[in-house]
Amino acid sequence: METKTPYHEPVLLKEVLKWLKVEEKNRKVYLDATVGLGGHSLAILENSDTSFLYGFEWNEDSYELALKRLEKYKERIKLYNQNFIFAKEILQQEKVLVDGILLDLGLSSFLLEGSKRGFSYQKDEPLDMRINLELNLTAKDLLHRSSYEELVTIFKKGEVPKAESLAKKIVEKRKKKNFETTFDLVTLIKELYPSPKRINQILPIVFQSLRIEVNKELENLKKALEDLPEILKPGGRLVVISFHSLEDRLVKEFFKRDGRLKVLTKKPIVPDLTEIKHNPRSRSAKMRVGERI
Ligand SMILES: C[S@@+](CC[C@H](N)C(=O)[O-])C[C@H]1O[C@@H](n2cnc3c(N)ncnc32)[C@H](O)[C@@H]1O
Repeated sequence: METKTPYHEPVLLKEVLKWLKVEEKNRKVYLDATVGLGGHSLAILENSDTSFLYGFEWNEDSYELALKRLEKYKERIKLYNQNFIFAKEILQQEKVLVDGILLDLGLSSFLLEGSKRGFSYQKDEPLDMRINLELNLTAKDLLHRSSYEELVTIFKKGEVPKAESLAKKIVEKRKKKNFETTFDLVTLIKELYPSPKRINQILPIVFQSLRIEVNKELENLKKALEDLPEILKPGGRLVVISFHSLEDRLVKEFFKRDGRLKVLTKKPIVPDLTEIKHNPRSRSAKMRVGERI
C-alpha cells in the first residue's frame, strides 16, 4: 500500500534527547546531520525553547517536507539540502561550534516506501536508489556498467553471500535484457537462491549493498566521523544511530581510536521492546555517543 502522508517514526527519540542533553531552558546549538522528515529535529526544538538547530538533509523531497514541518521554528533553524560531508566546512564558515550532533543514518520510511526511487525490493520501481538526484550513477547504471570484478567487490563489501555467483549471473543476464526495475533484480536473485527463507535474508542485503555503493554511504560516514568532532564544543556530544553492522563497526572502531572523543556508551544503546513493538523498523538500531574532550 502507498503511504499517503509521508512519515517516519524517529528512532530512540527519548534517548537522543537525553544524550544530547536537550532541556527546556538551554541555549544550545545543535546539528541534525540527517534531518529526514524532521522527527528528531522537531523534538529538539520543542524541548529546548532557546536552542538553535542547523540541519542537513541530502534528499530533495525530504528536505522540502522537513522545511514545512519545522516552519513554526523558522527563527531557530537553518536547514541545508546538502550532503553532511559539507557540514564542517559550512558551520566553520558560519563560525559556529555546536553542543550536540545527531547522525541518524540510513533511510527513512518515507524514502523506502514513498520516494519511488527503488530502495525497496517489495515495490516494483525504477532501479535508481540515489538519495540525491545530482549523483551520477543509478543502481541500474551500476548493474550495467560495472565489470564482473567490480560487482563482486560491491557485493563483498556489502557482505552478500555468494557474491561471485550473483555477479556472474548479473553479467550473463544483462547481455540478454536490461535491468530496468527492482523486480528485474528480485527475479534474478530468486533464481539464484531458491529457498524462500534464504531469499528473504538475501534480498535486503543485496539491495542495501547497491544502495550503499550508489550513495557512497560508508565513505560519507567516514568523512563525517573525521570532521564532526572539529565543530563540537568541549563537552559537546556526537550521537550516532546506525542500522547495520557495516556502519556500526565503523562507528565503534572510530570512537575507540579517535583521541578527540571520550566514549560514553561502552555498549551501544538499543531500542526497548516497547519501541520495537511499536516501530519494528527500529529493531536493528544501535546508538553510540562520544563526548568532545
Ligand atoms: C533515518 S533517516 C533520518 C530520520 C530523521 N531523524 C527523522 O526523525 O525524520 C536518514 C536521513 O538521512 C538522509 N541522508 C543519508 N545520507 C545523507 C548524507 N550523506 N547527508 C545528508 N543526509 C543524508 C536520508 O536522506 C534520510 O532522510
